[in-house]
Amino acid sequence: MNLFSLEDKVAIVTGAGSGIGQRIAVGLAEAGATVACFDLETSGGLASTVERIEATGRNAIALRGDVTRREDLTEAIESAEKNLGALSLAVNCAGIANAAPAEEMPLSQWQKMLDINLTGIFLSCQAEANAMLPRRQGSIVNIASMSGIIVNRGIQQIHYNTSKAGVIHLTKSLAMEWCDRGVRVNSISPGYTLTPMNTRPEVAEQRKQFEADTPLGRMATVDELVGPAVFLLSAAASFCTGVDLVVDGGFVCW
Ligand SMILES: NC(=O)c1ccc[n+]([C@@H]2O[C@H](COP(=O)([O-])OP(=O)(O)OC[C@H]3O[C@@H](n4cnc5c(N)ncnc54)[C@H](O)[C@@H]3O)[C@@H](O)[C@H]2O)c1
Repeated sequence: MNLFSLEDKVAIVTGAGSGIGQRIAVGLAEAGATVACFDLETSGGLASTVERIEATGRNAIALRGDVTRREDLTEAIESAEKNLGALSLAVNCAGIANAAPAEEMPLSQWQKMLDINLTGIFLSCQAEANAMLPRRQGSIVNIASMSGIIVNRGIQQIHYNTSKAGVIHLTKSLAMEWCDRGVRVNSISPGYTLTPMNTRPEVAEQRKQFEADTPLGRMATVDELVGPAVFLLSAAASFCTGVDLVVDGGFVCW
């Protein structure tokens, strides 16, 4: 038996058009799943994710939507189930990052961050669980961050850090609500990872510092997030729920 196989499973991945979400979507297909790929636009990155999945011999569809809109998620899951089959796996990766000093941050900047990074995860989990709970079968992984555990030295992102701390506790809370109905909910907290998020101007100068501050001496590649996601979704993690799996090259130890 291959404990880590996702053969014959149907997954949805939000934020599948770029970075960690894109690589995880392809990785789930490599582990045997068919994948509904959800992002703000179906062109560009999301189309490329679907092509990469199809190249593995698995099915995929691109779904356009915004994680802050409940109706977009409901429609996406209906479409995923109609085209691919019963949904039992989900990875919620959609997120944004930016920075501003706390004392100057406009309410709109704070609110948008919380809407996408925290409420978006809640709405995604809610829509996914509404498909999974009646069948008493499902596994959901939310992408949090080590920023939900530590404060990144030199980066003024109170809204981001707060949203990610919320994702970790939201995950534990949902895990407990659904623990007796067949749906496991876990999170992954990546450390500094090489994605477009880390090419934004605010962090360009800090890349060398990120590497120096990380005990393993480098940033993660997106490939290194696949194993943790496959593990938590698979039968190998059948007794794991409410876990936050920290994938940070040792960062939070120091
Ligand atoms: N890159 C890192 O170092 C790092 C570290 C820890 C955690 N994370 C988290 O990992 C996740 C993915 O980050 P990434 O670095 O791959 O970023 P990314 O910018 O490469 O990808 C994020 C994706 O989310 C999508 N998205 C944004 N808002 C959306 C919305 N409202 N609805 C639907 N899709 C939306 C974007 O279009 C994009 O395709 C985020 O939650 C991020 O906070 C990243």
